[in-house]
Amino acid sequence: MYSTILTTIENGTCIITINRPDKMNALNKDVVTDLGHALEEVYTNSEIRSAIITGAGEKAFVAGADITEFLSLDKEGGSALAKKGRVNVFDKIEHCPKPVIAAVNGFSLGGGCELAMACHFRVASTNAKFGQPEVNLGLIPGYGGTQRLTKLIGKGKAMELMMTADMIGADEAKILGLVNYVVPIEELLPKAKEILQKIHTKAPIAIANIIASVNEAGNCDPGGFDNEISRFGDCFATEDMKEGAHAFLEKRKPVFKGK
Ligand code: COA
Repeated sequence: MYSTILTTIENGTCIITINRPDKMNALNKDVVTDLGHALEEVYTNSEIRSAIITGAGEKAFVAGADITEFLSLDKEGGSALAKKGRVNVFDKIEHCPKPVIAAVNGFSLGGGCELAMACHFRVASTNAKFGQPEVNLGLIPGYGGTQRLTKLIGKGKAMELMMTADMIGADEAKILGLVNYVVPIEELLPKAKEILQKIHTKAPIAIANIIASVNEAGNCDPGGFDNEISRFGDCFATEDMKEGAHAFLEKRKPVFKGK
C-alpha cells in the first residue's frame, strides 16, 4: 500500500516504520506523502488507539529531509515544501487525538529531529543522536523545529544546537528533556508499546483532551488555561468520567468505553 513506509497494527497500536534504511530513512516527497496518509488512517480507524513512529534498521530514525531534492528548489519551492510537510505530517502528529510516540533508533537529525519532536513524547535507544544541522546547508529547520525545540529544551540550548549544528547523544537528550527514556535498542519498541498499553487502559476522551490542552501550553490567544477549563468541563459530559469516579468509590478498576 505504501512505497516508503511499513505499517502494522498490534494491540491497538499502529507502528509506522520509515523504510529507506540505505538512505538513513531521509524524508523525501514520497515519505512525506505516505506519512500523511498513514496519519489519516490513525485518525480515522477506530481499531487504532495509538501510534509509534520509528525508522527501519539500527542506524537511523531519520537523518533529515532528503537533501537530493533541495537543489531544484527556489524561494517559493522551499516555502511550499516546508508548508506541505508541516501541515500534512508534523502538525497532524502533534494534534492527533490519539497518543503518538517516537521510538528513536539512531540518527535523528534535521527533519528527523523535528519529526520526533512533533510526536507527543519520545523514547530513544542508547545509540540515538539528535541534532539540527540545517545551518551546515545554509538553511534553518523548516518543519517546526525552531518552535518545538525551543519549547522542549529552552531558548538558550535550542539556539546553541541550531547555530552550531552540534549533535547530542541520547543521555544528554534525556537530561535536556528531549526524550523520556533511554533504553538498549532491542528494548526500544517494547518500551514504547508498554507505555501505550498503559495509556490504552485510560479514558480515550480524557487522553484527547490532555493532548489538546498540553499542546496549548504557552499560547496566549486563545489561552491554554481557558481552554483547559472548557475541556475539563467536557470530560464531565462523558460516560467514562462517571465510570472512573464510580470505580474509584467502589474500589474497582474502571472499564472505559471512549464515550
Ligand atoms: N538526505 C539524502 N540522503 C541522505 C541523507 C539526507 N538527509 N542522510 C544520509 N543520506 C544518504 C547518504 O547520501 C548516503 O547515500 P549513498 O550511499 O547513496 O551515498 C546514505 O544515506 C548513507 O549515509 P552516509 O552519509 O554514507 O552514512 P554515515 O554513517 O557516514 O553518516 C550521517 C550518517 C547521518 C551522519 C550523514 O549521513 C549525514 O550527515 N546526513 C545528513 C544529515 C543532515 O544534514 N540532515 C539535515 C538535512 S536538512
